[in-house]
Amino acid sequence: MAQLQAVRGTQDLLPAEARRLRIVAETARLIAARYGFGEIITPIFEFTEVFSRPIGEATDIVAKEMYTFRDRGDEEITLRPEGTAGVVRAVISNGLTQSTPLKFFYAGPMFRYERPQKGRYRQFHQIGVELIGPSQPQADIETIALGAEILAALGVLDACEIQLNTLGDTASRQAYRGALVEYFSAHCEALSEDSRDRLARNPLRILDSKDEGDRVIIAGAPAFDDYLNDASRAFFDQVRRGLDALGLGYVRKPHLVRGLDYYCHTAFEFVTTHLGAQGTVLGGGRYDGLMALMGGPDLPGIGWAAGIERLAMLSAEPPAEIRPIAVIPVGEAAELPALKLTQDLRRAGFTVDLGYGGNTGKRMKRANKIEARVALILGEDELRRGAVTLRDLDGGQQQEVPLGEIQQRLALFR
Ligand code: HAM
Repeated sequence: MAQLQAVRGTQDLLPAEARRLRIVAETARLIAARYGFGEIITPIFEFTEVFSRPIGEATDIVAKEMYTFRDRGDEEITLRPEGTAGVVRAVISNGLTQSTPLKFFYAGPMFRYERPQKGRYRQFHQIGVELIGPSQPQADIETIALGAEILAALGVLDACEIQLNTLGDTASRQAYRGALVEYFSAHCEALSEDSRDRLARNPLRILDSKDEGDRVIIAGAPAFDDYLNDASRAFFDQVRRGLDALGLGYVRKPHLVRGLDYYCHTAFEFVTTHLGAQGTVLGGGRYDGLMALMGGPDLPGIGWAAGIERLAMLSAEPPAEIRPIAVIPVGEAAELPALKLTQDLRRAGFTVDLGYGGNTGKRMKRANKIEARVALILGEDELRRGAVTLRDLDGGQQQEVPLGEIQQRLALFR
């Protein structure tokens, strides 16, 4: 049998890497909690319809990237490509729509059949927040500020630029859509096949095209600004004033539409130049029509998600892990007392390694290899005296310590 391999675009996260990702998620969870966001865990797979209409049939995600299959009960299932649709579905399913504002944080794996490259995987992880209920621009401001705080805590905010746009309300979007159809129809011949298809289905999607020929045409496309009605403009002005008040600098990107269809008003991305082509670290926006589209009441919402792998790549090396204590029994008679000592120390909160077998020399070598801070050597003499030899593996000194005092002594090495 050929050697088994992980599926393309997936990765095994070995302990050091898994720890980096966990630190990102834990830092985010902690800061989100300060803003009143409680964790929600929704299923990793949903009925396909949870995603297809909300994200948009003409988006790359739905058209090309979803992991969709029929399960054994002939249900059409999709591995979640993102978190928002599932959270909104959960709010409706659990009858929470009367309890707004709802503030949710989530972290977990997402799945998209994309071309794998640095920072882009088929199974990746996101942290995200969803704030459901408030229609005021304050919600947009606070949500963006939360993203910035998390990135700052991870030490990556300075490497990012906040890009901001508005997609206005429905009326503004309709007016803009008309202008785009007119503009792109005039350039139809030169558009990529995908974008010609988008022109008929959802012309706003063309603005998100990565095709180089399309990008040239897009550069001359009308800007949303000229089609915003007064209410949409006023909303956006308030968002901007709030960001200014918080000292959050941003760059206006008039063609930023994001890769999902559910957005209106505020759309934003935190982008870095430090990760090559996959520079978008965090993206989100307002999605006022989404809940109604999914069969719930007409409740507005806003949120964002960020790629945990991308954040981990950008952030500095996390602080070193706690160095273990190595327990080293010398001779057969010391094996069980050493096992017992190890167990007691672990229960008291120490990180302890107990080698399995080998002579003392081999076990000392292992203690050095795992960078143990101290070794506790337990031989026949020590056993008889109810003591243990504590060796400082950095300094080299050693001393016999009565078993009853060992925890106090070890505390000095934490
Ligand atoms: P998104 O822009 O599709 O938005 O994804 C958010 C972030 O997930 C991206 O900025 C990127 O950092 C990361 N990401 C996306 N695809 C991949 C991939 N294939 N490999 C690695 N990282 C990836 C959403 O998912 C929306 N649900 C955000 C949102 C929440 N909007 C409102 N609420």
